[in-house]
Amino acid sequence: MNEISQTKEAKVVNPEGSPYNPQKARIIGERQLTTDTKLFELELESGERLNQDPGQFVELSIPGVGEAPISVTSSPTRRLDSFELCVRAVGNVTNTLHKTNIGDTVGIRGPFGTGFPVEELRGHDLLFIAGGLGIAPLRSLINYTLDRRDEFNNLNILYGCKRPCEQMFEDEVDHWARRQDIYHEATVDFCPDNVCWGGNIGVITELIPGVDIDLDNTYAIVCGPPVMYKFVLEELDEKDLPHEQIYLSLERRMKCGIGKCGHCQINGAEEVLYACQDGPVFNYEKVKGFEEAI
Ligand SMILES: Cc1cc2nc3c(=O)[nH]c(=O)nc-3n(C[C@H](O)[C@H](O)[C@H](O)COP(=O)(O)OP(=O)(O)OC[C@H]3O[C@@H](n4cnc5c(N)ncnc54)[C@H](O)[C@@H]3O)c2cc1C
Ligand code: FES
Repeated sequence: MNEISQTKEAKVVNPEGSPYNPQKARIIGERQLTTDTKLFELELESGERLNQDPGQFVELSIPGVGEAPISVTSSPTRRLDSFELCVRAVGNVTNTLHKTNIGDTVGIRGPFGTGFPVEELRGHDLLFIAGGLGIAPLRSLINYTLDRRDEFNNLNILYGCKRPCEQMFEDEVDHWARRQDIYHEATVDFCPDNVCWGGNIGVITELIPGVDIDLDNTYAIVCGPPVMYKFVLEELDEKDLPHEQIYLSLERRMKCGIGKCGHCQINGAEEVLYACQDGPVFNYEKVKGFEEAI
């Protein structure tokens, strides 16, 4: 039986059974990825496993500071007793988290949201398109597919950053580049003269024409800054990839994480979606009618 459950219900790990009660998690590892982004390894104090699906997120809280949604970047096929979060220091919670030490505890609620549809993707060609911090949720699914390589067909990974020094998970990116069974291309918007960079220079959409897309068999999985989606989707349209075969991980301001407060609402003409519960992973065909979605 597949260990990844495909349930769309929030699987909540917490001792008292309320989705609002955070559970304590201890920081057991930290690694600086770029000047403003760190990778944290955490374990739940209860000894339970987080049991996340690739693409799900947790609400991370620091008492007296606040709470923020953060994608779980580790694959459930690895680190069964711990999980990883890749966090950019941008505001109250994330800056405070960056000042913590190994052994400190934080609060964790979740995992929440719909992950990537692993069962639907199984057996197909996958095209991952990650921009900047968008690599964080995609890394969970990428490592899942690499650990179960024989269950997926062709894997294509396109990863774009602003500058070479902003590329994260360099060891893993090098590994993708060395593997013969993965098509991998990296790009940066800009490369300073004194920096050695072997990839493309330009926006990520420039890499899409180079991918061999089998229209009957390929799923695109996209995550990046808001500005990226429009252009990536236009380029995928150029390739005639059916919209049902495109999955987008979308970011919204969130609070409760469980579809109660309305902070993450995406309004459509007749229906409202909650990014925390109906997403953050959405099928493009289903979400494209919602004017506020992209
Ligand atoms: C599903 C999901 C997954 C995510 N995954 C990750 C991840 O893996 N890693 C990661 O680093 N981040 C991730 N984020 C983004 C992260 O949750 C936000 O950046 C969050 O705001 C950080 O919290 P903070 O308290 O540190 O920052 P805040 O104090 O909330 O500030 C963040 C930024 O937003 C601005 N801001 C604050 N309040 C508002 C407001 N009301 N309206 C507009 N702008 C405002 C601030 O000026 C600042 O620039 C994710 C978000 C979502 C929804
Ligand atoms: S964050 Fe409260 S409804 Fe989505």
